[in-house]
This record gives sequence, structure tokens and C-alpha cells, in this order.
Amino acid sequence: VNSEMTFVLLDLWQMNRTVVFQAQQGTLLQAQTMLLDEPNERLYVGAKNRLLSLRLEHINRDHKEIRWASSESQIEECLMKGREKPECANYIKVLQQYNSTHLLACGTGAFNPTCGLLAVGTKATDRLFSLAEESVESGRGRCPYDPNSLCTSTLYRGELYIGVYTDYWENDGALCRLNSQTYTRTERDDRQQLNQPKFIKSVVIPDNDDPEDDKVYFFFTEREQNPEGETKAVYTRVGRVCANDQGGRRMLVNRWSSFLKTRLICSVAGANGIDTHFDELEDIFVLQNKDQKNPEIFGLFSTTSAVFKGYAVCVYQMDDVRASFNGPFAQRERPGHHWTPYEDRVPYPRPGSCASKMNGGGFSSSKEFPDEVLRFVRAHPVMYRAVQPLHRRPVLLQTQGGGRRLTQLAVDRVQAQDGHYHVLYIGTDDSVVLKVITIYNKDTDTVEEVLLEELQVFQVQMRGNQQLYVGSEVGVAQVRLHQCELYGSQCADCCLARDPYCAWDGLTCSRYYPAGVYPKSRRFRRQDVRHGNAVQLCNGLQIDDQQLGVAEERTVYGVETNSTLLECTPRSLQARVLWFRQQGELQ
Ligand SMILES: *[C@@H]1O[C@H](CO)[C@@H](O)[C@H](O)[C@H]1NC(C)=O
Ligand SMILES: *[C@@H]1O[C@H](CO)[C@@H](O)[C@H](O)[C@H]1NC(C)=O
Ligand SMILES: *[C@@H]1O[C@H](CO)[C@@H](O)[C@H](O)[C@H]1NC(C)=O
Repeated sequence: VNSEMTFVLLDLWQMNRTVVFQAQQGTLLQAQTMLLDEPNERLYVGAKNRLLSLRLEHINRDHKEIRWASSESQIEECLMKGREKPECANYIKVLQQYNSTHLLACGTGAFNPTCGLLAVGTKATDRLFSLAEESVESGRGRCPYDPNSLCTSTLYRGELYIGVYTDYWENDGALCRLNSQTYTRTERDDRQQLNQPKFIKSVVIPDNDDPEDDKVYFFFTEREQNPEGETKAVYTRVGRVCANDQGGRRMLVNRWSSFLKTRLICSVAGANGIDTHFDELEDIFVLQNKDQKNPEIFGLFSTTSAVFKGYAVCVYQMDDVRASFNGPFAQRERPGHHWTPYEDRVPYPRPGSCASKMNGGGFSSSKEFPDEVLRFVRAHPVMYRAVQPLHRRPVLLQTQGGGRRLTQLAVDRVQAQDGHYHVLYIGTDDSVVLKVITIYNKDTDTVEEVLLEELQVFQVQMRGNQQLYVGSEVGVAQVRLHQCELYGSQCADCCLARDPYCAWDGLTCSRYYPAGVYPKSRRFRRQDVRHGNAVQLCNGLQIDDQQLGVAEERTVYGVETNSTLLECTPRSLQARVLWFRQQGELQ
């Protein structure tokens, strides 16, 4: 931790808002490899040559550690291949709940991927955390070789789904599924299926009530080919396969028989009619609903332009994703030609569908699909219609430079008095977490962004029970999602903050709970997230000019060679403090 970071962390510490687990020097944590285990009240974190198990309640108290380094001979071999010393170690890249008692972990193993099971027990009190030595085996095809390689995995019904570069030279990017018997994957060297992919996220989403129709979705970027066959534009894709896909019998053996992909659009219309596209996917957050079939999907994007750097968050609904996969297939004469919708007859059962009752095909396995279906899906993996975001525009847009990179996204759904709000937590490369709400105005078809807080921590990773867990190479921070009392001691301060977690209860600014959550909670709560109208809301309560949003002017006199304190931090981010120096003589 550099000194600057220590200082800002200290701020949060003193507010008792953050607890930090600081790793030992040299333990490079892999912030991408964190697994939240709420039943066991644990947060597991992969690291270089290590795995950590942290307590959710007290992240910095009595953690457990497994040391899992590469052997001397593996390191030697790695160095002989010309790799650098720091790369020749075991970086944990995959960490998944294997069953109720064990985790599956895979590491790069000094460019020799390795997997093993970790015993974790079933109760928080078990306090078990150990590597089952007899389970350690090759992790080829389940973990990248290169510590810098991005991969995404998800474990479902005992099978590991993973988007990964499977080879030493990082030529073979593939979407794979592994269980003890079979290995199913995308076609090798098929640029139409995957072209230089960068894997970001994977998630299982049921289609309907028939588990045979469950689908695994992969979010990634890839290169689009132009007419000369060279690659140029980057596109963000969502691809999917059936969880019960067994591949074909004569063709597509051990290959997906259901793989299709479509493009995710995140763009803003320009004044000149040319849209600005945010094509580089940085992160995806899948916000689960009570209805498991329809989570909301939040994407954090950046531009690919070298000149103009901007960021956007777009939201996608599963109805729109499914409509794209149910729409026309795309076709083109040759790579690089224009895509057109495929308008001829589509074989039955529809290519990309699962062998299930819902499909009415009477097929018990994809191995029974007609060759014609398999040939079609192999030749037409791309959908013609892209997926448009909710409201056909980003909910958040950051176009001014500033040099700050937005890299991670987590989202909480909060019930406020005037409706539901999505609170976005956006992690940046300079260890800040931005807490933002976005408010859509139907009448004007515009989106208002309200920056609620800038929390100085590490990189955002994931969220648990009213806590944000933020990972970085050097530590993990646990941050409370709200600290209402910080907004001040007046009704108007609380209201102007517009934080959906907080409301004025007549005495203080405190956590807002919707009616019925706590029967004995104070009945009368004042909150107006949508408009922040303090005049109306705090009517009858004492308000001064400053709180009405009217500029308060204060003159401060300074004396030469002496110092004067000018306050510069307003209580709420909705306020601004400006100081002007008056030139010339005072009257
Ligand atoms: C933080 O917690 C400590 C110990 O519980 C307490 O003494 C201190 O007053 C708290 N600080 C704030 C700002 O609440
Ligand atoms: C989980 O898997 C491990 C390894 O296969 C096995 O030893 C263990 O019994 C399993 N646990 C349960 C609860 O099935
Ligand atoms: C210098 O500033 C301090 C603190 O602002 C103040 O207490 C002191 O009176 C000032 N001295 C003069 C000479 O104005």
C-alpha cells in the first residue's frame, strides 16, 4: 500500500466504515479469484502460491491459509522455457464451490496448470481449510498457463464451464465444459465461433421451468473481421450453450451443438447522426431477481478509440437477449462481407435449442439431432439482430478524461420510499469506488446520474449482505454500503444527499427500511431520492439558505504571512464549495 492509499484508508477506518485485511508482503492476491460462501460465512481469495479463507464478519481476524506453490522442478522447467521468475509460480485463477464440502481450485502452476479440491466443511464452525493432496491433478483446459490471462468459470451440476486459453502460447481461446468423463468445447481454429476472445463473465440462467432448457451464458469480447480478412473492430458478445448439450454423434463430436452468439450494443447517438459505440467490455454484473429466469445484466464498457476514452454502463433484460437468439440468424458470403439475415428455411429442431420437452422435438439428447441441424448451427453461430440496452442508451456515461480507468462493477437493488433504485458500485484503477444511482425520466426519456459517494478503497469485486468486499493485490476491504449519519444532522442535508439507503426519521439521518420490514420502525420517514426536494419534504422543519440549494456566501479574511482554513469538503456530493479570491482593494 502506498502512503497516499494508507492515508485515505485511514479516513474510512476512523469512520468505522471499513475493515481491511492486509495480505503479507509478497502474497499478491488475485482479486479476480474471489468466492463468497455465505452459508459458511467465508470469503475465499486466490493468491500467488496461496489460498486464503477470510471471515465475512471480521475480515481481518484469524484468517486461514493454504500454501500451494509449484515444485522446484516445475519452476526450473518454466525458467528454461524462457519465462521470467515472477511468472513461474502458481497463481490461482479458478475457485468454485465443487460440492457442499469442497471447493475446486486451479492455478497456473508455473505454466503447468494444476487443479485440486479444498476441504472447507459445511458449517462456519468447522473452520476447515485444507488441500486434498490426493485430488491434485493436471489443470490443462481448466486454467490458463499465463498468470496475466483472463478466464471466466462457473460450476453447475458438478461440471465446470470455463472460457479460457487452453494452450501455452495463448492461441486457442475456447468455451469448454469438463466433467469426469467428457470435455466439450468450441471448435478449434474456427474464427467464426471465436476470434481472439477476451473472457469476462459466465452465468447459468434458466429459460423456463424445464431444467433441460437451462443455458450457460458467456460474456466476452472478440475481433470482427473486415473484407481483407484482417481483424479490426472489437465487439462485445454474449454467447450461450445448453447445459445438457452432449455434442453430436457423427459430427460435432465433443463440440457444442448449441453454441450461438450475439452482439451487445452500448452506444450513444451523436449530434451528427454517428453513434459513439462502447465496444470494449470491462465487466459484467448479473443482478439476480426473485424470478431466476430474468436477472438484470449490467455491463461496464469503454471505447476502443485511442483518441477518445469514455465509459458507459448499459443494462440488458433477458427478454431482449432471448429475442435476439430467437430472431434471424446472420449470414455472409465470405468473412468480412456484410452480414445479412438468413431468410431460407431453418431446420428443425431450431438450431441452438436444447434437447428438451419444451422444444417438443422428442429428442432426449443432442446426439439425436439431425445432421442438418448440426451443420446449420456450425455454419451460422452469429445472430443477425444485436441486443439493445434498456431505454436504448447507457444508464451511466463518463466521457471526461481525467485518466481514471473504470474496471469493475457491482450493483445493489435498494427499496426506497418512492420506488426501487439500482445503486452502482464502480471500481477504478486508482482504488476508488464510485457509488452512483441512475434515475430514468420517462417524460423526457433522459437518464440522470447522481454520484452519491466516492469511497477510497481498492478494486470492487463483489457484494454480500449489506457489505461490499473489495479486492486488490495487497488486501481485501470490507465496506459498509451506507453511512447515513455522515450526511449531517438536518432533514434537508439528509434529503439532498438522495441516497436511497437513507432517510430522515425526525431526529437523524438513518437507514431507510420499507414499511413492513421492521414493524416497530418509526413510522414517519422523509426521503425523496428522485427529486431531492428538501423544501417540500422538510416543510415545517428548520431549513437555512444553504440547505435550500441556494449558494451561501461567506467572506473570509486572511492575513499576510498567516494561514486561514478554507473548508473544502461539503457534507454531500450534491453540494459544491467554491472559494474566490477578491482582487484589489476591499471596500
Ligand atoms: C469507531 O469505533 C471505535 C471503537 O468502537 C469508537 O471508539 C469510535 O468512536 C468510533 N468512531 C466513530 C467515528 O464512530
Ligand atoms: C464432495 O466431493 C469430494 C470429492 O469428490 C468427496 O470426497 C465428498 O464426499 C463430496 N461431498 C459431498 C457432501 O458429497
Ligand atoms: C494567525 O492565524 C491564527 C489561526 O487562524 C489566528 O489564531 C491568529 O490570530 C492569526 N494571527 C494574526 C496575527 O492574525
